Amino acid sequence: MTKPAKILIVFGTRPEAIKLFPVIKALEADPRFVSVVCVSAQHRQMLDQVLQIAGIVPDHDLDLMRPDQTLDGLTAALLTELGKVMDAEQPDRVMVQGDTATAMAGALAAYYRKVPVDHVEAGLRSGNIYHPWPEEVNRKIIGAIASLHFAPTGVSEAALLAENVPAARVDVTGNTVIDALHWVTARIAAQPELAAGLAELEARFAGKRIIGVTSHRRENFGGGMEAIAAAIRQIAARPDVAVIFPVHLNPNVRAVMHRALGGLGNVALIEPLDYPHFARLLAIAEIMLTDSGGVQEEAPALGKPVLVMRETTERPEGVTAGTAKLVGTQTATIVTEIFTLLDDKAAYENMARAHNPFGDGHAAQRIVERLGNEIGR
Ligand code: UD1
Ligand code: UDP
Repeated sequence: MTKPAKILIVFGTRPEAIKLFPVIKALEADPRFVSVVCVSAQHRQMLDQVLQIAGIVPDHDLDLMRPDQTLDGLTAALLTELGKVMDAEQPDRVMVQGDTATAMAGALAAYYRKVPVDHVEAGLRSGNIYHPWPEEVNRKIIGAIASLHFAPTGVSEAALLAENVPAARVDVTGNTVIDALHWVTARIAAQPELAAGLAELEARFAGKRIIGVTSHRRENFGGGMEAIAAAIRQIAARPDVAVIFPVHLNPNVRAVMHRALGGLGNVALIEPLDYPHFARLLAIAEIMLTDSGGVQEEAPALGKPVLVMRETTERPEGVTAGTAKLVGTQTATIVTEIFTLLDDKAAYENMARAHNPFGDGHAAQRIVERLGNEIGR
């Protein structure tokens, strides 16, 4: 019998964990593969929240998060430590997801060892290397290295082909975030207590219109974050509105938000939610206001209007479908756009339609099948 192929899966942050656990589960269930999970723990608490709910126990945990870590310090440590794991494990292939420092360093360390790299969520491009920063360049570096490119949509496939990636190396799979969302929705249906922790807030805000907020982008630190906070203050001044804002653990986000919004009656600044509770927030929110990548993908699948606090997006599918709108980070624009959705029923109905531009929930299976072909089994 041929030996199963050893796949080293490398990740480190909350969104990578959410988007990779469906693939890890599919690989684990397939005898053609042995999967080895290495977390950099570029995020600590927010990563552990996902590992716990998904039941993933890493084989290697590099525990690399430092308070307010710099990009160069983090990247240098990642490259060295991930390289050591690759030397010890001697994987047949390395899998990375998306565009974080961990994904980029994981791809580079594998390349230095001439180990093929498989890229999940390949081909996202905003066309601006500073928006999002540094993710746009991270994913271009991974794209230059990757052996297989798992593009979530036709748009991302086209971006790769335009960069002369051979068509035979690109597969349109859908985004694994939709697999994760389906999985968590089924878990909550079977065990509603998994998402019951918001009950107290829901009771406190009964009768109010909920706006869910997340914000963490590095390019928005400083002025952008201040402007976002000022917008939320103005929005929450309306008595019919309540804002639920799980605040990212990055100190550059927390300091601004707690200073500007702490103590406001209509604003709940809460700790990051685990995935079932965030799915609950998506369900009870009338509107999502975010600069997150993943939330831009989840909200359209659920038919939730999502206002995106960015200048550009590498995920134009939600905007094309009409569920997402780019609103930038100017206070006045954010407030106007939110008020329009709150006060103009037709404008709201226009956006609040479920679309599935990011996939059908079977991305992980497609990825594993393609990998099976690649290893000839
Ligand atoms: C990272 C990714 C970004 C991704 C985001 C998802 C890079 C360069 N950036 O950004 O692409 O969209 O994660 O959330 O890879 N912290 C904690 N606990 C945690 C997580 C973070 O305390 O569980 C704090 C630490 O002080 C840490 C800081 O947040 O130093 C920044 O974390 P880092 O992973 O470097 O950057 P993010 O801004 O989270
Ligand atoms: N998310 C979560 N809890 C929260 C906020 C977000 O579980 O309190 C999930 C969300 O559902 C999405 C992912 O985290 O799947 C997005 O992560 P983030 O916004 O940190 O990163 P990005 O997607 O921008 O890289």
